[in-house]
Amino acid sequence: MITGITSETSASPGAPVPTAARQVERSQMVMEQLLPRGIRDPGVLQAMGAVPRHCFVPQAYQEHAYQDYPLSIGLGQTISQPYVVAAMTELLQRQPDPVVLEIGTGSGYQAAVLARLVHQVYSIEIVPALAMRAAALLQALGYQNVKVICGDGFGGLPEQAPFDGIIVTAAPKTIPAPLLQQLKIGGRLVIPVGELFQELKVVERTEHDLVTRTAFDVLFVPMTGEAQAQRPTPTAPPPTVKGCAPTGR
Ligand SMILES: C[S@@+](CC[C@H](N)C(=O)[O-])C[C@H]1O[C@@H](n2cnc3c(N)ncnc32)[C@H](O)[C@@H]1O
Repeated sequence: MITGITSETSASPGAPVPTAARQVERSQMVMEQLLPRGIRDPGVLQAMGAVPRHCFVPQAYQEHAYQDYPLSIGLGQTISQPYVVAAMTELLQRQPDPVVLEIGTGSGYQAAVLARLVHQVYSIEIVPALAMRAAALLQALGYQNVKVICGDGFGGLPEQAPFDGIIVTAAPKTIPAPLLQQLKIGGRLVIPVGELFQELKVVERTEHDLVTRTAFDVLFVPMTGEAQAQRPTPTAPPPTVKGCAPTGR
């Protein structure tokens, strides 16, 4: 039993919401929030239409689980807006049988979406209570290809590197160098970067370079731990990153 998280109950005690009704809400979310904004990858659309997002939010917010906004998951953290989860997943651009790393497990929802699309997900969460809750929930829901690790994701996961994709769901001030080092050739890092003003960056490792572009503006919780000791370097990007797009609005 996972406290505060149930699979098929509404916010009002004793009033279960049928699975079919949740499925309708998920289909509406795909039709009204994802397709009109340009999410096209059939696998991503299918995963978003299948993962029971309401299971990943506190019971009091389950009625809002499929709405077009982020929600609190407690402990000062959030589950991202469905569109942002879908867009970041699509930006990873999957390789055959990929192994991906997520930094910022939170509720476990993004990891569950990834789990339907890739061979193996490693997900690191710095808050122990969140890591434990997400691991238990993912296991209860049958996601056997997700491994949740409690710790600071700033250094990535060298023992399982390199990765086909790395997705970061908390914003550092600058891109942590270890994450760049742990990308395979052809692999992508999708990461929000900044403080009050943040942009979603996509870094691709080519045979000779790291090529960075900006996808869109975002607002994530800050990456804590070692990332908070980072100082932005406005005059020069890290030496290994080439092709950075301008960062102005
Ligand atoms: C926006 S929430 C993540 C949402 C999550 N992906 C989901 O699907 O629910 C950001 C998460 O990143 C975690 N986080 C922040 N800094 C971190 C770090 N250095 N290493 C690992 N996790 C971190 C936070 O504790 C929080 O749970």
